[in-house]
Amino acid sequence: MNLTNEKVKELKKDFPIFRNKVHGKPLVFLDNAASTQKPRQVIDAISDFYSSSYANIHRGVYPLSERATEKYELAHDAVGGFINAGKQEIIFTKGATESLNLLSYALPSIIPPGKDEIVLTEMEHHSNLVPWQQLAKRNKMKLKFISVKKDFTLDYADAEKKITDKAAIVSVSHTSNALGTVNDVKRLVRLGIKAGAFTIVDAAQGVPHQPVDVKSLGCDFLAFSAHKMLGPSGIGVLYGRKELLEKMEPFNFGGDMIRKVSYDDASWNELPMKFEAGTPHIAGAAGFAESVNYLNRIGMENISRWENELLKQALESIAGIKGIMLYSPGPKHSSGILSFNLNHVHAHDVASLLGDDGVCIRGGHHCAMPLMEKLGISGTSRASFYLYNTVEDINIFIESLKNIKKMFSR
Ligand code: ALA
Repeated sequence: MNLTNEKVKELKKDFPIFRNKVHGKPLVFLDNAASTQKPRQVIDAISDFYSSSYANIHRGVYPLSERATEKYELAHDAVGGFINAGKQEIIFTKGATESLNLLSYALPSIIPPGKDEIVLTEMEHHSNLVPWQQLAKRNKMKLKFISVKKDFTLDYADAEKKITDKAAIVSVSHTSNALGTVNDVKRLVRLGIKAGAFTIVDAAQGVPHQPVDVKSLGCDFLAFSAHKMLGPSGIGVLYGRKELLEKMEPFNFGGDMIRKVSYDDASWNELPMKFEAGTPHIAGAAGFAESVNYLNRIGMENISRWENELLKQALESIAGIKGIMLYSPGPKHSSGILSFNLNHVHAHDVASLLGDDGVCIRGGHHCAMPLMEKLGISGTSRASFYLYNTVEDINIFIESLKNIKKMFSR
């Protein structure tokens, strides 16, 4: 489906939230990098699951439990297919953050001796930074950061210097949540592989917005969350190459992840259960599968192209406002994220005043405090787009921003 403004207006009707008004004004939701709204199809899939198929999984031998188990397992298929991974390579977690934490505990057992460096980029958000800081402290490892250049893209020459044979882990963001920069992940993964490191992609802002194929990227692991791609919160994915997941020790222990337990010991279930201890977000998996179906029907290429058109329009319009500072690598290198500051106005004030006009954006450090510090700012205002945003949404956002500018110029 090639998206046009008319088509987007039609598909927006799938999202019940947009029937709401804010102070009598239309709801313009431009905080999609934080979380996305849900279409009726996803809401119904969750509600229908609870109404007709709910029971615990992998435990009951009665038809209801078997149906719940089948749906839960089919969700692994659907999500795996979405990124070209096998069903056993899809571990359902609470979200990208938990996926990366899981790795920070489970991966060290298979790191070869003599390797003690973790290479990240300067644009990581806290989920792909803090778990590695803690691992570095626990295991006396060294953190290295690939520089961000003045144009808000990564310095690949610096990546070549920093990813050496000492690298145990190279973990990089697919797309910066704060700047919108889409990184050349394939190139970084190649450097990681050449150095003999485990390669990890934080694709929380990548998978929801453009086609991502783990086989083509060649990475060992990849993390993302359902709530940023029309699905429910509280469920996400750790993709891992089967061979590595088989080698790694589990991180969480308990029910469902075991094969046999005695008073003294236990052995582990097959993948993906080995890493899914306890009762998971079963109904969430049904909703997640439906969100993937919804995105597939529209097509990830189409979504990416539409977001890019919105970004171009927003960039052109915002450039006309005096006193705007942009933190964007431009539409060629960016996802649908626009980070900016309005001279002398705090990012929180901008977000709050836009909110009064029904425009939802995020203001602040975007869970990327070190990046903000590097840029010499405390935060930015960030508008982030998704498939249901229209040209009118951008116009309302820009008009509201112009009024805020006027208010502070008096
Ligand atoms: N990482 C999310 C954001 O960028 C929460 O807003």
